[in-house]
Amino acid sequence: MKKVNVLDQEFMQGFIHMANDGWEQRWHERNGGNLTYRMKEEEVEACKAAFTYDQPWTDLGITAANLAGAYFVATGSGKYFQNILSKPEESLCIARLNEKGDAFQVVWGLTAGGRPTSEFPSHVMNHSVKTAIDPSYRVIYHAHPANVIALTFVLPLTDRDFTLALWESMTECPVVFPAGVGVVPWMVPGGSDVARATSALMKKYDVAIWAHHGLFCAGPDFDSTFGLMHTVEKAAEIRVKVLSCGMGIRQTITAEDFRAVAEAFQLTLNEEMLK
Ligand code: 13P
Ligand code: ZN
Repeated sequence: MKKVNVLDQEFMQGFIHMANDGWEQRWHERNGGNLTYRMKEEEVEACKAAFTYDQPWTDLGITAANLAGAYFVATGSGKYFQNILSKPEESLCIARLNEKGDAFQVVWGLTAGGRPTSEFPSHVMNHSVKTAIDPSYRVIYHAHPANVIALTFVLPLTDRDFTLALWESMTECPVVFPAGVGVVPWMVPGGSDVARATSALMKKYDVAIWAHHGLFCAGPDFDSTFGLMHTVEKAAEIRVKVLSCGMGIRQTITAEDFRAVAEAFQLTLNEEMLK
């Protein structure tokens, strides 16, 4: 059989590239954040010769029936984004779901031991919701960017307050996330409860902010999902700077302005946010 190098595959190079970009943005202190990618069937086929199927199954604590048998690339729990570029096989894994979609098995990677990210239940539930709405969605990204987290200490923790604060901070924000963003109140990370709360928001949005923790972004590919995280965090940085001036907000983008942008760019803005 032909020897396959999983690391040479285009999807794996894209995954590693994106993870390292996140590290360079300073969004991943220590082991903070995690990234998953739902593989295409042809990508699984191309790599199968390199997979082993002898590791135990682990319960997910949630069920994603529509993703039964799916394969994911995932960052490892406790692994540092800082090391993904130099030690990808130690830092990453490929895991598959069982036929019920409620347990996983690692088939590649984590060569020094370990398991997929502790947020794997949240990732899988988000993939499940997104795939059901739009099968082109493949990437779920969780990071700890400082300005988004900072805003969760000063803004009311509502979808509308965060959406408006971010949209107003940079004219192109409503173009990048016209549905807005959702907010999850503070919750214990790593479990099925926070997974359910996050995936409920993912039915409406591509962005779910976790109070005092970070955020999740969803998208069809590495570039658009990274770009979404980047845009949200830059808007949050601008908002933090504006608030830090301590002079209040003298002028901003109005509801009518947003509607004009929506018309010019032919997008459906979430009107709920403008009421
Ligand atoms: P992991 O190291 O398990 O991925 O956890 C990091 C994190 O950000 C938890 O929310
Ligand atoms: Zn986290």
